[in-house]
Amino acid sequence: METVPVGPGFAAELRGVTLADVANDDAAYASVRAAFEEHSVLVFRGQEVTDDLQLAFSKRFGPPEVTKVGSLGTGSHFVILSTIGPDGKVVPPDHRYALRNKANQLWHTDSSFKRTPALTSVLSARIIPARGGETEYVSTRLAFERLDPALRQKLENSFAWHDYNHSRSQIAPGLATPEERAALPPVCWRMVWKNPVNGRGALYLASHAYAIEGMEPAAGKALIDELTAAATVPQASYVHVWQSGDVLMWDNRATMHRGRPWPAHEARLMVRTTVSATAADGFESMRPPTQQAAE
Ligand SMILES: [Fe+2]
Repeated sequence: METVPVGPGFAAELRGVTLADVANDDAAYASVRAAFEEHSVLVFRGQEVTDDLQLAFSKRFGPPEVTKVGSLGTGSHFVILSTIGPDGKVVPPDHRYALRNKANQLWHTDSSFKRTPALTSVLSARIIPARGGETEYVSTRLAFERLDPALRQKLENSFAWHDYNHSRSQIAPGLATPEERAALPPVCWRMVWKNPVNGRGALYLASHAYAIEGMEPAAGKALIDELTAAATVPQASYVHVWQSGDVLMWDNRATMHRGRPWPAHEARLMVRTTVSATAADGFESMRPPTQQAAE
């Protein structure tokens, strides 16, 4: 396996290894897992992806999420990100599918709003537009390390509230349905996720984050916005231009990402699998102390 760095201090393309190798071979998994811990975003090119293979690969890293209510693929292990309607045609720009893509264009971390957040997301390109539709990443580990030590220390002991409805309401009122809102009440996580393998902390932020525990609401939101702006300065990002056969995986504990727009009349179909974080991934220390004591 060859590791080729592709981004500013994070993100690497892995050559000489396939999804099937990782699914079937312990040594291949161990190498890719080590690269994942270090580089946060991994790019695999020229893969022959099927749903079954993507799931077998993903399961190596931990328990796969079951897709939530209100998403295409609900109840399965797959999230279908599509702009193709049931009639086989690309949906109009005001369609729910298109608005969901717009919500994906806010900087976020997958599943921070769930009771169990995600370790990693695996995304495969099935149909890609001729231009646009890139995925852009930043390292919230490097962003954390750029902050001054006093602020780092404060954030390590701060907790933020995350709510799916908050991010969706920025795009269109009512985009999160009553069913989704009932299934996904706000959750509270430590603002720094420490990687148990290398000990490095990363800001845990997302478009879903809206308040900081113990801070006045406006001041908390202002700090979240300030940290997001500092993490997402353009020179700090890796923009992935999708090619057919590409599969990406990223560490939701140490990155944020956003989708980039593409011409509305062009089809795009991506399939995501998402793996839940476990105690071995440092999840337990993310809970507020009151919850740690209660469970
Ligand atoms: Fe995402």
